[in-house]
Amino acid sequence: MSLRSHFPVFSHHPDMVYLDSASTAQKPAVVIEGMKHHMEQKYANIHRGAYDLSEASEVLYHGSKEAVVRLINARETAEISYSYNATSTLNILVTSLIRSGQLQKWDKVLLSRAEHHANIVPWLIAKETTGIEVEFIGLDADFQLDFADFEVKLSPDVRVVSLTAASNVTGAVFDLARVRDLIRSKNFPSPSRRGSLKGSGGEVEKVSQWTVGENNILFIVDASQAVPHFQVDVQALDIDYLVFTGHKLMSDTGIGIMYGKKPLLKALVPSIGGGGAINWVSEDGFAPAGLPSRFEPGTPHIIGAGSVLRAIEFMESVGWYAELERIEKDIVIHTLERWRIFKKRFPEVRLIGSEQEEGRIGVFSFATDRMHISDISDAFADQWICVRAGHHCAEPLMQSLWISGTVRMSLFLYNTREDIDRFFDVFEEILLDAR
Ligand code: ALA
Repeated sequence: MSLRSHFPVFSHHPDMVYLDSASTAQKPAVVIEGMKHHMEQKYANIHRGAYDLSEASEVLYHGSKEAVVRLINARETAEISYSYNATSTLNILVTSLIRSGQLQKWDKVLLSRAEHHANIVPWLIAKETTGIEVEFIGLDADFQLDFADFEVKLSPDVRVVSLTAASNVTGAVFDLARVRDLIRSKNFPSPSRRGSLKGSGGEVEKVSQWTVGENNILFIVDASQAVPHFQVDVQALDIDYLVFTGHKLMSDTGIGIMYGKKPLLKALVPSIGGGGAINWVSEDGFAPAGLPSRFEPGTPHIIGAGSVLRAIEFMESVGWYAELERIEKDIVIHTLERWRIFKKRFPEVRLIGSEQEEGRIGVFSFATDRMHISDISDAFADQWICVRAGHHCAEPLMQSLWISGTVRMSLFLYNTREDIDRFFDVFEEILLDAR
């Protein structure tokens, strides 16, 4: 049965076909009502008040982190910190690695060509400011990581491998277990470094030595596009840091999540600071708070955190990832069936992604020279079909494919086979009108 009835937006817009969930997901009633309920009846600041409302907000905030622990199979809530989206989280992580001395001039960071700008630009800023090297692993013909290229680029100066778990353009799901095996098989000499800790309090200084155990390459994963579709198990994949955004997982916007292994977080000197993230402050210095608060200066997005909790509870209530994957598999198979018929009639349209149902999520990008992609998305909008046209914040990928952008339709648990049929029927009409 479709989960569409849980999403109020569809009763307000019954004729709308929403195929833009890679951009942001619609919200189920339990998320919307949960936010309203808390703001109406239980809202106050956290960590600061002894009264009931403050405690209720504290319970909500902590409960949200417990839900994230379940979502990604982390060990404890101390490993989870919040900021305002995946991009801000990656910026904080990169600058903190530099501040900790764990990333220095000439150190190499490996990314893939399919990365979102969120997982490119912070590293390019570090290249400008600190002189790190940034290299891109190519993709194979099916838009998967090219492991031959990966092995060549995995040289002893690589300190970080930072990859998306699933592409927001092609829908490809990267084989992170194979990535883990490859990078953990490398026994490069582990650098022993001390960062510049000026201005930091003593607690971080004591643990500032980079002790990554036997692992000397940090494995970072951007799971923003993945966690709404399948579980990314941080323990099974031996992921060092993982980030994702809440809004693609049906929560409010304005909340980003960072997971880090506790020993690594202890050794990470935060590049940000302020109230709530300290133990004490004097005119001369400060001591950072414990984990995870030291990465959360200022009043956090309490209601947003609550919306993450309600979104994860919603997933649990409808059958967790097993049910989400079942729904998605069905509509992905149907999409590929319709695509195979469509491409025979319109050979000028290319699918920028795999035609195999395995190893992909329901994100489908189309490129064509027949019409401008913005005109195509406008024509879809005229028919109440929501898709996105553009480079999808993945310009290096577009450049490597020699295209300026794609028309992207992206599916989620509220979509149906009828939505897919409507998309292809209208796409045909649009292209026929242009002939
Ligand atoms: N990152 C979002 C997308 O892919 C906005 O559309």
